[in-house]
Amino acid sequence: MTTPIHFPGEDQSNVARRIIATQEPLALRTFTPSLAVLARSAGVFHWTPEGRRLYDYTSGVLVANLGHNPRNWLKRLADLMGWNAETLSGGEGYAEAATLTAYNAVTELETAAVERLLANVAASPGGERLDSVCWAASGSEAVQKALWACLHHAPDRDTILATRHGFHGKKGLAGAVTGCESDADRDRRVRFLSFPMDDWDDLDCYDGELDLAPYRDELERLWDELGTSIGTLITEPYLGGGGSYHPPAAYLQLLETFCREHDILFVLDEVQSNFGRTGRMYAFEKYGIAPDFVTLGKGLGNGIPVSAVVGRSDILASLKYGEASDTWSANPIASAAVIATLDEFEASDVLEHTRQLEPLFFSELNRLKETGVITKVRGEGMVYGIECNDVGSTAAADVANAIVETCYLGGEGGEGIHLLGPLAGTVVRISPPMTITEDEARTSLALLMELVSRVGESLAS
Ligand SMILES: Cc1ncc(COP(=O)(O)O)c(C=O)c1O
Repeated sequence: MTTPIHFPGEDQSNVARRIIATQEPLALRTFTPSLAVLARSAGVFHWTPEGRRLYDYTSGVLVANLGHNPRNWLKRLADLMGWNAETLSGGEGYAEAATLTAYNAVTELETAAVERLLANVAASPGGERLDSVCWAASGSEAVQKALWACLHHAPDRDTILATRHGFHGKKGLAGAVTGCESDADRDRRVRFLSFPMDDWDDLDCYDGELDLAPYRDELERLWDELGTSIGTLITEPYLGGGGSYHPPAAYLQLLETFCREHDILFVLDEVQSNFGRTGRMYAFEKYGIAPDFVTLGKGLGNGIPVSAVVGRSDILASLKYGEASDTWSANPIASAAVIATLDEFEASDVLEHTRQLEPLFFSELNRLKETGVITKVRGEGMVYGIECNDVGSTAAADVANAIVETCYLGGEGGEGIHLLGPLAGTVVRISPPMTITEDEARTSLALLMELVSRVGESLAS
C-alpha cells in the first residue's frame, strides 16, 4: 500500500483519506496530490470537513456547469421526483413519488427529457441531423453506443477514424478510439489522424489561420488506403483530456466536409463541451459544424449521472431490441436532472455570462506566465488549460502537481482553490462553474496568481 496522502491539521480529512487508501484501489482516481475531502458545496465553493473554503476550479470534472446545488435546480429536481413536504411526511412506510427505476418500462420524466433535449439541440445551429436520443449513464457508454450504432448500420464499413490524443473514455470502444497508435492493444478497426495541437492562445483561436493542406493530405491518404471500409469518424471539438487544445473552426469543418464527401458518419464527442463550456450550448454551434451524432454527458445532469448519444434515428435504428439497454439508462432521476438543467439554461443568461467572462479569464491566466511557472494558456468559454514549465531542476509535471497542492492549501486566509491532477502530465485544468460571478472570478484569479507565484518562488529558491 502507498502511504496515504496526509496534511497536518486535517484530522477528519485524513481519516477519510486513510479509509480510501486502505479499502479502495488507488486506480479509482487519477493522481491528485491534494486529494481534497469535500464535505459541502454551494455555487463555486466546496468546504472541507475542517471548514476550509475552496474555490472549485474543476466543476467536479466539468460537470457542475451551473454551480453546486443551485436552489432552483434542486427544487425543480425534487418537484419532478415528487419529493416534497407532503410526500416525505407521515413517518415510516413509503412515499408516493416518482419511481427510481423503470427498466424496460417508461416514465413521463423520460419522455419529457427526450422531447426537451431534442428541442434544445434542434434550436442550436448545426443540430438539424440530431433527431433521436439514446440514453446512457456515463460518457464512455454514450460513445460506445454511438459507435455500436455506426458499426451495426454498415458492418462492412468498420474502420473508425479517430483524432489522435483524444479522450473518449476508458471502456470498450470509447477506450479504443482514445489516445494514439503507440498505446498497447489497439483495436485494429481504429485509425488515427492528426489534430492541430498548435498554440492558438489568443481569443480568436477558432478563426485562427491554419494551413489545412497537411490535414487534407492525411485524410486523402487514408481514403486512398482504406476507401469505403471507413464508416465513421469521431473527434472531440477540442482535445480536453489530451491537454486543452482548441482548434480553429476550419479544421473541424474540414473533417465534416471529408465525411460528407465520402458518406462517413461524423460523431462529435461533446461529453465535456456540452451545456455551455465553450460559451455556446453545444460546441458544434461554436465551430460551425453539423454532426450526425453528438455524445453528451458531464454537464448534462449538472451532477446527476446521465449521458446520451443524440443523433440520426435512421442509424440508431440499426440497433435491435436490447442491444443498447442497461440498468441505468433513462432512469427517472437522470431524466429529471436533464429537465431541471435545461430549465436553468433556458431561463438564465449563463451562456452570455460565460462569454462575457472569457476575456477576463484569458487575460488573467495569461498573466500567470509572469511567474515563470506557466508557459502556455489555451482555452475558450469556461474551459482552459495552463501548461507548466520546467522550473530550475523541477520537471513541468512536478511543477503542475506543486500548483495543485499549493492551491489546495491556500493563501493567507486559508481559502484555497480546488484543482485536479494535471492533464497530459503538465497541464492544469481551469474550469470553474459557469455561474461564477465576476467578483468571485476576480478574487479567485488573484488568489491563483498569488499561489502560483508562491510555487515559482519556492522552486527558484
Ligand atoms: C470528451 C470526453 N468523452 C468521453 C469521456 C468519458 O466520460 P466518462 O468518464 O463519463 O465515461 C470524457 C471524460 O472525461 C470526455 O472528456
